[in-house]
Amino acid sequence: MPRFEPWSAPRAAGIIAEHTHLEGATLPILHALQETFGYVDAGAVPLIADALNVSRAEVHGCITFYHDFRSAPAGRHTVKLCRAEACQAMGSDKLHADILRRLGTEWHGTTADGSCTVEPVYCLGLCANGPAALVDGEPVAHLTADALEATLTEVRQ
Ligand code: FES
Repeated sequence: MPRFEPWSAPRAAGIIAEHTHLEGATLPILHALQETFGYVDAGAVPLIADALNVSRAEVHGCITFYHDFRSAPAGRHTVKLCRAEACQAMGSDKLHADILRRLGTEWHGTTADGSCTVEPVYCLGLCANGPAALVDGEPVAHLTADALEATLTEVRQ
């Protein structure tokens, strides 16, 4: 798991300044902020809007349009569950509902103990072995709720 810096407006302003010369700078800036802090803090929105001379709504729209950007820090572990068609055909909708219920969270949410964030992905290239997932970036095929629980117990230790 990468270690992230705590949110800092001056640090964010510096990162934004490094990217303003780029064409279509909003996305590179958002990626750089997320790589640094682990998420895009709401405080970054006015900084980006001012630096690029665009509206706050435009920046906010960009953050919410792309699934990869987080607006809150992630848990210590990340589970990405594939919601695309082939996995759906293998019963992923029901499985995901079971997993979210067991973890007590929602899509893009983090468990109460801060250990695990659950996010959707759309095809991991494991279609023949679905339902598929990534746990901390490691692919998991033929996912079951019990198998995920066992994997999470292992990685939490
Ligand atoms: S549809 Fe889930 S891995 Fe391709």
